Amino acid sequence: MSDYRYLTFALGKGRLANKTMELFEEIGITCEEMKDKNSRKLIFVNEELKLRFFLSKGPDVPTYVEYGAADIGIVGRDTILEENRNVYEMLDLGYGKCRMCVCGPASARELLLHHERIRVASKYPNIARDYFYDKKHQTVDIIKLNGSVELGPLVELSDVIVDIVETGSTLKENGLEVLEEVCPLSARMIVNPVSMQMETERIKDLVNRLRGRLSS
Ligand code: PRP
Repeated sequence: MSDYRYLTFALGKGRLANKTMELFEEIGITCEEMKDKNSRKLIFVNEELKLRFFLSKGPDVPTYVEYGAADIGIVGRDTILEENRNVYEMLDLGYGKCRMCVCGPASARELLLHHERIRVASKYPNIARDYFYDKKHQTVDIIKLNGSVELGPLVELSDVIVDIVETGSTLKENGLEVLEEVCPLSARMIVNPVSMQMETERIKDLVNRLRGRLSS
């Protein structure tokens, strides 16, 4: 083990990282340092297994992995699709399940049917563009927002939104609904292509152990 180089993991901050560390613990990968919630440390190490972990904003995870600053990343499929980085998607971890949807008031349903030039607000402009231009062949104006996207149709910034729907309660409480489903989402493991070549055995072993745990 001591001859190994460190394998570095980038984890999307928050619930996803907590779920990931719970899953890793189940296959014997622990990181005690990470459990100290008062710590301001940014990088956590398991010396014995030669593993390093760091937390970052979700959208930065594919960037760290593409450049090889992290060998492996754990992030939502929404971020992978939006960032479109040169990384391998290795495993569906199954948690963080939700859907990317086109949402709006019921009255906007008509606008989608007739391929009108509508305004679409989203935190995910690339996903919205791919969906409307490539899949639906509908020309739309896309407006990038950074959060609370449901406001778009409420204040008449946009006709519809493209956003994540989990329980549907944000939509419901604001008089909006799912109009179309773009794609299902969940947490994924991504790997740097060079790391995959250099550390094939270690990464494959990790993927197999995780896959075994997830299917049991
Ligand atoms: C996400 C998403 C929706 C909400 C959906 O927002 O953008 O707003 O969760 O969840 P629900 O279907 O269970 O109501 P998030 O909380 O990440 O914050 P944001 O609006 O600032 O992006």
